[in-house]
This record gives sequence, structure tokens and C-alpha cells, in this order.
Amino acid sequence: MTKAFVFDAYGTLFDVHSAVRKHAELVGPDADIVSEVWRQKQLEYSWTRTLMDRYLDFWQLTEQALDFALSKVPSANKDAKKDLLEAYWNLECFAEVPSVLAKLKSSDKKVAILSNGSSDMLDAAVSSSGLTDLIDDVISVDRIGRFKAVPEVYQMILDDYQITASDVSFQSSNRWDIAAANSVGFQTIWCNRGTQPDEYSDLPPDRIVTDLNGLIV
Ligand code: LAC
Repeated sequence: MTKAFVFDAYGTLFDVHSAVRKHAELVGPDADIVSEVWRQKQLEYSWTRTLMDRYLDFWQLTEQALDFALSKVPSANKDAKKDLLEAYWNLECFAEVPSVLAKLKSSDKKVAILSNGSSDMLDAAVSSSGLTDLIDDVISVDRIGRFKAVPEVYQMILDDYQITASDVSFQSSNRWDIAAANSVGFQTIWCNRGTQPDEYSDLPPDRIVTDLNGLIV
């Protein structure tokens, strides 16, 4: 039986590409590529730094990844950096998120975020997208100084709520995050917002939805 609905933050609740979209003209004609490279590098740094045991908080990785993306894409306007970081700090959530969380919150289940994001950047995004009253707990990897997909990250939920893995319904748009959550025994729902092909076939999601409305039907 589900006792807690736990959400990944970036890409699942918050639209990571909304920052570049907001300043697309300023960034230049390859704004979409900048956004993709920015996200990929941010994730890569989280994995490599965990492997190296060289933790830097996710905000620093986000800034370093943006520097790389703006240097890598020849047409990108480097002067957009400040505006892009500000937009990332105050990210928008996806349209269906407030109503879905409100519905879950009205049940007796816990509603939480489990994210690589640092506590301060998560608090800022939760507040800028108006989700403060809809989420019970925001749990950041800050506490352990290691990023997803190490099992210790997912274990924080079980320790905090004193529940077992099968009590958790974990939602993420990141297929690798779903694989890791499956690996520790969570129920998993992959929110495949685009039409990404499946991967990690030995660690499949229990369910696939195209947006979070799929959780409450
Ligand atoms: C997070 C990243 C992985 O919020 O999206 O943890």
C-alpha cells in the first residue's frame, strides 16, 4: 500500500527548459541546444562527482554546466548567463503539478520531493511555482553529500518516514532515476513527458505516464 508519493524535482515537477525558453531570444538561435547541453552536463557532473567522492552542491554544478553549454555552442550569447541562472532559481512547474499535488495532499499520504537539488534552490523553486503548501517535505541530497543514483539517496525517504520501500510511489521523468528507485524496491512511475525510448530494461517502471495527471486517474 502506498504511504508516500515521492517526486523527483527537476524535469518532473519543474520544467528545466523553461529557463532558456524564457530568454530564448537573448541566448540566440541555438537556444534549444544550449538548454539540452546545460541539462546533460549538470547531470554528468552529479554522477562523476559522486564517483570521485568530490561533492559540490547542485547549484554550483548547475552554474558550471551552464558555463560549459554557453562556451560549447558557438552562437550562444554568454551575456545571458545571469538571466538564465535567475530563471533557473525561480523555475516554473509543469501546468498539471499544482492540481495533482493538491489531490494527493488531500489523502492521508505523504507528499515529498527527493532531489539532487540543494535545499536552498529547491525551496526557491517550490516557492516560485506556488507549491509550498502542497508538499510535506523537501529532501535534498545535501544531507549526505552524494547524488542520485546511489541507494543512500533513496534510503533517506525510508529513514525519515520509517516505511518500507514498497510503501513508496516514486515519480520521475528521468529514466535512470526510475531504474535506481526500482533497484531499491520502490514502486515506480516514469513520467515520460517527451517520447523518450525506454532503457534500463532490467529495471523497468511499474507504470508509464505522459504527465502527472496519470497518477490520479
Ligand atoms: C533531481 C534531478 C535529477 O531533481 O532531476 O534530482
